[in-house]
Amino acid sequence: MGLSWPLTGRREEVRTIEAAILASDVSGIVICGAAGVGKSRIARDALSAAVSRGCEGRWAVGTSVAKTMPLGALTAWAHSGVTDTAQLVRGVIESLTAAPAGTTVVVGVDDVHLLDDLSIFVVQQIVQRGAAKVILTVRDGDPIPAAVQEIWQGGQCDRLDLQPLSIDESSTLLSATLGGSVDPDAAQRLWTLTRPAALSAGADHHVHQRRPGASRHACKMTAALEAAGHEVLYYENTEGGHSGAANNAQLAFETAVTHEFLLQTLFQ
Ligand SMILES: Nc1ncnc2c1ncn2[C@@H]1O[C@H](COP(=O)(O)OP(=O)(O)OP(=O)(O)O)[C@@H](O)[C@H]1O
Ligand SMILES: [Mg+2]
Repeated sequence: MGLSWPLTGRREEVRTIEAAILASDVSGIVICGAAGVGKSRIARDALSAAVSRGCEGRWAVGTSVAKTMPLGALTAWAHSGVTDTAQLVRGVIESLTAAPAGTTVVVGVDDVHLLDDLSIFVVQQIVQRGAAKVILTVRDGDPIPAAVQEIWQGGQCDRLDLQPLSIDESSTLLSATLGGSVDPDAAQRLWTLTRPAALSAGADHHVHQRRPGASRHACKMTAALEAAGHEVLYYENTEGGHSGAANNAQLAFETAVTHEFLLQTLFQ
């Protein structure tokens, strides 16, 4: 069964992306935001909109598996039988940006921070040469290799920091998806349930300025979310590494905390 979620809200953001594609003085846009905030969705929709306006569209996705292979995310555009790296890269750039004269190509790359080095080089080259417009997405909180940051540093790309949908937009989406009006209480509860929360495990990440002994990624994520104006629930577990399971007692405690949180949130 196909489930269609209409793109909800994001009118301003869609306009910002469109403006970056049309602008003659930038190479495109990088869309940043927290996990699940809607980066891939808006990037794909913006690419489809560009195609419907007459652009040529290409879509590639960075993944942790593709990252282990040279040009992993871009294999669809690599010519088979070519062994020389420079020639291979040139071929990928040419195929990605090929279009009839006068047609703009828009290359969308989802999760660009997960690209391998050669793929990063390809995107850098496309941006530097202005060979196509780019729409890139990056997940906040994930490590971003310096080479990836160089793609948009120097003012060649606009930047859009995507925020979560508001409670009203979230209710509208819920109603549209379910095909009817939704009880405001239920909508509020769902919105609250999906608000950002951080659960930390981590004596192994022992260096951090915020609280000694706390997880570096969780603290960074918490600080970033707070800076963005969100209320963050933070539980700091200082034993047991990533799983918080130094021993059975620790594991039982961690599990109990998680279940208690869910029970309180769901049945309050
Ligand atoms: N504005 C929106 N209207 C309707 N559905 C949306 C909207 N934004 C996101 N979605 C839906 O929410 C889900 C998560 O969005 P998406 O995959 O784009 O998030 P993401 O930021 O790319 O997540 P990740 O950080 O995991 O890559 C998808 O099913 C997507 O279609
Ligand atoms: Mg995504």
